Amino acid sequence: MIQTKFVDTHAHLTDVAFDEDRNFVIKKSGELGVGLIITSGFNYSSSVEAVKLANDNLGVYASIGYYPENILELNAETENDFINLAKSDKVVAIGEIGLQYTDNMPDRESQKRGLIRQLEIAHELHLPVVIHCRDAYGAMVELLKQNKSLLSFGGTVHCFSGSKEIANELLKLGLRISVGGVSTFKNAQNLRETLKEIPIDRILLETDCPYLTPHPYRGQKNSPCFIPTIAESLANLKGLDGEEVARITTKNARELFKI
Ligand code: NI
Repeated sequence: MIQTKFVDTHAHLTDVAFDEDRNFVIKKSGELGVGLIITSGFNYSSSVEAVKLANDNLGVYASIGYYPENILELNAETENDFINLAKSDKVVAIGEIGLQYTDNMPDRESQKRGLIRQLEIAHELHLPVVIHCRDAYGAMVELLKQNKSLLSFGGTVHCFSGSKEIANELLKLGLRISVGGVSTFKNAQNLRETLKEIPIDRILLETDCPYLTPHPYRGQKNSPCFIPTIAESLANLKGLDGEEVARITTKNARELFKI
């Protein structure tokens, strides 16, 4: 087992933003106590890249999936390749997958169908899921409730930004809640109030890098190196010791992703 203080449960290390310094960032993160990173795909090609990066780096694992914008790529012809990729040793989750009800996205029925198909695949492969949700929390809760039997290997809602009521529904479904840089933003007071109510033993840390750099470093490129900043902010928010937040969130990540 790799020793680590923190886990970054959701990063996009294959993003072009890391083309110049990917290896340095992975090494530096390890030096700062972030020795385990789950890098996430969002369509087939980025998922292949995520698995390759994981295979090349001991402390990197992959989460693979088609997220809402790319959901039409998943069909009867492409899904066998996806399922085979998901059987790779270092794939620890299906995701990010989800619903995004903003403009210029595939139609909602296609998004739902694609999400359910990926929940089925995760269940068949005994993998947890990493859920992406934007402007669709009500529909998401409804869909997950209707498909609760597919969630028996657990999951997390990444970059959570819903209400207390939504958080409660997700926790009741056995899901975890992932917290990243947004929780540190000055305008995120509502989210911080919600996070106060979520038990620490259901929370995971993530960066979603290269996006969403935590305060006071906004403007810089985000990376797993900022996980300690996010953890410290969460510790202050919840009135907990920083070491305790590190220990509990890392235990949670190891349990969910079996790493
Ligand atoms: Ni992401």
